[in-house]
Amino acid sequence: MSKIGAAITGVSAFLPEKILSNADLEKMVDTNNEWIITRTGIKERRILAKGLGTSDMAVPAIKNLLEKTNTKAEEIDLIICATVTPDMRFPATANLIADKIGVACPGFDIAAACSGFLYALTTGAKFIEAGTYKKVIVVGADTMSSIIDYQDRNTCVLFGDGAGVVLLEPNEEGLGIQDSILKADGSGAPHLHMKAGGSLKPASHKTVEAREHYAYQDGKAVFKVAVKSMAGVAHEIMERNNLTADDVRFLVPHQANKRIIDATANRMGVGTEKVMLNIERYGNTTAGTIPICLWEWEKQLKKGDNLILAAFGGGYTWGSVYLKWAY
Ligand code: UT7
Repeated sequence: MSKIGAAITGVSAFLPEKILSNADLEKMVDTNNEWIITRTGIKERRILAKGLGTSDMAVPAIKNLLEKTNTKAEEIDLIICATVTPDMRFPATANLIADKIGVACPGFDIAAACSGFLYALTTGAKFIEAGTYKKVIVVGADTMSSIIDYQDRNTCVLFGDGAGVVLLEPNEEGLGIQDSILKADGSGAPHLHMKAGGSLKPASHKTVEAREHYAYQDGKAVFKVAVKSMAGVAHEIMERNNLTADDVRFLVPHQANKRIIDATANRMGVGTEKVMLNIERYGNTTAGTIPICLWEWEKQLKKGDNLILAAFGGGYTWGSVYLKWAY
């Protein structure tokens, strides 16, 4: 019997309707359209309506995914949700999502920030490869607007809200996930984190007054490591799978900064025509960026196409996945 692989057999996404443009931000903080575009590549982002949470973006995306792939909700074996903006501290957003789509399947969340989707995809694939499950839904979703300080120009121009979802199923044709490299270095925490709201510093009047429930980033420090690490890991996965730039159909990069994406493509030797790039419309949706790209480029993908997924984010965490598109 041939080895069971795990392949993405469907993809969907949800982006909130409300747009926050660079012009809107110019009215909120001391910034300007030109600075944002030249330093990041971002023109606008989507913002989820107040009163809704991350599960409210994942659910419509999953409903569409089930319809597209002719899958009944009861057939789902497992839901893994990558997010740093769960609906609540607990229960897991994956459990809330399952309930909202009317099933009681197992599920859990993964907190690996901008690399979360790669961590969740790799984890989901292991359940398929082991033969434990046949249908695993992997969600990458973040409501960054819930943890962004719209008085802080260092961060508020960068992030947006969005969700992407994929269905993972067994594949015996050699398609699907071929290789995965996951890395982390917790010593990066001082440069990218949320100061309060955890067990170390629970919410108090003081933490609210000090604006410590928002994402903090030392952009310059993160940028340097992000360029080196994301480009490095994408190059590493190509090298250890004997892939040349010609073999790669698309780089699917995390969308944090166009300059980091360009550096990664350069290191891989792939031209811009092979890079999925939608940062100008959505900004950085954290765990959402990679599956949202797959969804937007789905029609251009063919069975057997080699894709290199790569991400870097809070933790620090970073990684790369090499997969062969399965449909
Ligand atoms: O996805 C998670 C991982 N995160 C990332 O990968 C993000 C990594 N970092 C970055 O993408 C970039 O560092 C930023 C886009 C955040 C900043 O770009 P930069 O080229 O590193 O700018 P900088 O931090 O060196 O700031 C340059 C100047 C500073 O002014 P001074 O000190 O030179 O006078 C900033 O205060 O730009 C200023 N600045 C702004 N100006 C206008 C910072 N934010 C803004 C802003 N508008 N929004």
